[in-house]
Amino acid sequence: MTELTVAVATESGPDERRVALVPDQIGPLRAAGLAVRVESGAGRRAWFDDDAYARAGAEVVGRAELASADVVVAVGRPGDDLLRPGAGQLVVGLLAPLSDPQYARRLADLDVTAVSLDCLPRTLSRAQPMDALTSQANVAGYKAVLVAANAFGRYFPMLVTAAGTARPARVLVLGAGVAGLQAMGTARRLGAVVSGYDIRPESRSEVESVGAAFLDLPGQPTATGEGGYARALGADEQRAQQEALVARIARHDVVITTAQVPGRRPPLLVSEDALKQMAAGSVVVDLAAGPRGGNVALSRPGATVVTEEGVTVIGAANLASTVPTAASAAYSRNVTALLLHLVRDGSPVVDLTDEIQAGVVITHRGQVVHPAVAALVEGGSR
Ligand SMILES: NC(=O)c1ccc[n+]([C@@H]2O[C@H](COP(=O)([O-])OP(=O)(O)OC[C@H]3O[C@@H](n4cnc5c(N)ncnc54)[C@H](O)[C@@H]3O)[C@@H](O)[C@H]2O)c1
Repeated sequence: MTELTVAVATESGPDERRVALVPDQIGPLRAAGLAVRVESGAGRRAWFDDDAYARAGAEVVGRAELASADVVVAVGRPGDDLLRPGAGQLVVGLLAPLSDPQYARRLADLDVTAVSLDCLPRTLSRAQPMDALTSQANVAGYKAVLVAANAFGRYFPMLVTAAGTARPARVLVLGAGVAGLQAMGTARRLGAVVSGYDIRPESRSEVESVGAAFLDLPGQPTATGEGGYARALGADEQRAQQEALVARIARHDVVITTAQVPGRRPPLLVSEDALKQMAAGSVVVDLAAGPRGGNVALSRPGATVVTEEGVTVIGAANLASTVPTAASAAYSRNVTALLLHLVRDGSPVVDLTDEIQAGVVITHRGQVVHPAVAALVEGGSR
């Protein structure tokens, strides 16, 4: 029987430093009967060199030699040159089919079986080792605090020195999901006084468990949605929430925002009014900044803006990629767990009655099989 070949290429995103498989994970894949081919240099930007892959049992090759692989694993979307039309290739990555369903259609037309880790049913406990959204959000939440501390003109911890006493920074984290809780814990470890807020009331105990105080907004709605996520607020509720936050935000030196609602534009939590009320030197990092807007007025992904009042607003873009070694190691474990789940006796077995596969398999045998993506494809123009 010929071995199933897994290809790992250099990521195509210009600022992407992560790699989909790190040398540590080659052994478990080989033990399961998979051969791994790695493009020379694919791990370099995450500090994994070709020799480490070769020592771990991978074949280091030129890019052209990847195109014949049966499985392509990537962090984002793989380059088109890696796709072989009509070959029933398996492609694994964070493919974002819900925000670009036409990409899924294109993969189906190429007869690619597309597996998108961002569609994993995260609350299933047996899916947790594959949860790349969580592993990457942890990295991003950690880095957001370092980005904020770097832009802040004072200390995070209280420092008592012969030259005087510095009070600790007051940090507020809005959104207490994976990234938010990691940001709270990291800011606490740096010595800041940390508060956290989320619209889901059950997040209070999680906020407190990482050493932060829960910020109460009396009179504001709670908004627990499905699967542990928040529901979107109505326009009036949103306005009331923004107004209730203005005075609280003004009492903090650093605000880190991480609020998301699946499939929706991120809620605006820090209004222009709130930015105006903050003291000069304050820093706001918007982890939700994206093409559809973010949690903070004026934030744009990848851009830093200093307001007239002296508040630095940082639109974070792909922070996980800026901690590439840790982010790649975690992502690689997620990918390996997923491949070991999909492969039986050396061959991928697509079984849409399996709850994990029903979530992550987007296209198969020329069809868009994921119901939510298929509905979007049908609803859009082809
Ligand atoms: N294995 C598991 O069971 C598992 C794994 C991952 C996440 N989760 C849970 O899923 C949930 C979402 O996690 P995530 O990090 O992907 O979330 P996310 O990135 O979708 O959102 C981040 C946070 O923003 C909050 N938010 C949304 N709108 C808001 C608003 N208007 N104001 C304030 N906060 C707002 C959400 O409640 C959420 O906590 C959490 O409850 C998390 O614990 C569970």
